[in-house]
Amino acid sequence: MSSPNPVNLQEPFDAGLATRADFTLDQPLHLYGAVDHAVWKQLYTRQTALLKGRVCEAFLDGVARLNLSSEHVPSFAAINTQLTPATGWEIVAVPGLVPEQVFFEHLANRRFPVTWWMRRPDQLDYLQEPDCFHDLFGHVPLLINPVFADYMQAYGRAALAADNVGALPLLARLYWYTVEFGLIRDAASPSGVQIYGAGIVSSKSETLYSLESAAPNRLGFDLARVMQTRYRIDTFQKTYFVLDDFAQLFELARTDLGPLLATLADAAPFAAGAVLASDRVINRGTQQGWQTDGDV
Ligand SMILES: [Fe+2]
Repeated sequence: MSSPNPVNLQEPFDAGLATRADFTLDQPLHLYGAVDHAVWKQLYTRQTALLKGRVCEAFLDGVARLNLSSEHVPSFAAINTQLTPATGWEIVAVPGLVPEQVFFEHLANRRFPVTWWMRRPDQLDYLQEPDCFHDLFGHVPLLINPVFADYMQAYGRAALAADNVGALPLLARLYWYTVEFGLIRDAASPSGVQIYGAGIVSSKSETLYSLESAAPNRLGFDLARVMQTRYRIDTFQKTYFVLDDFAQLFELARTDLGPLLATLADAAPFAAGAVLASDRVINRGTQQGWQTDGDV
């Protein structure tokens, strides 16, 4: 999708680049310098080593099939030559976070917006907003998995169809606890669970914390429970929800969320660290290091 009237958003990282009405732009490959490529290489190398045995097979399979470079910031067009024939998804460059409705529209049409710019060398471990490494390395490998590909599109469609304002926080929590911070059972791994969420996959410290710390809760995935649970944007999660397998996402992608969204729209949400009698508890967190307020 393109617009004859590009608008300049004047975002801090847009480098004066014009974007289209759908907030996309052509990936400005000429603007990446040696520092950007070095940061990509450092993060890529560090995470691929750390993730061995800790991330789900589908993610590793995606990294291999997309032929991601370890040496330089990848060309989005080159990734699309692998991705689009496989699942119909394409990645599109954006200057940063895009408005909710624009984001949903992209997902519903199998386009994943990827921030084009790379973080600075002094931001390897923490960044307030998503950059190219988070968006690309974290999110895109699973888009070549057919089940996950369908789930992401179904999510976008459900969000576009949501006509009750109370539904949006519920959907935001679902995205947070699956796409960003999801864990999945794996009996063969040392901790019994593995990572698939992009917010974990792209973070050294949360990779270790989410799997190996005794502090957070790890609870069996339950759709209504997840949609009612507040979360953290400033610290590690107090709770991770664990899928039994990707078949749960397969079913979710074929579920009409409308009735449940309507039922839950006015329900008071649970605290990020709550454990309920109805939860399937895999690990009840010790709560060490938790802050008492600040749930979103
Ligand atoms: Fe993300």
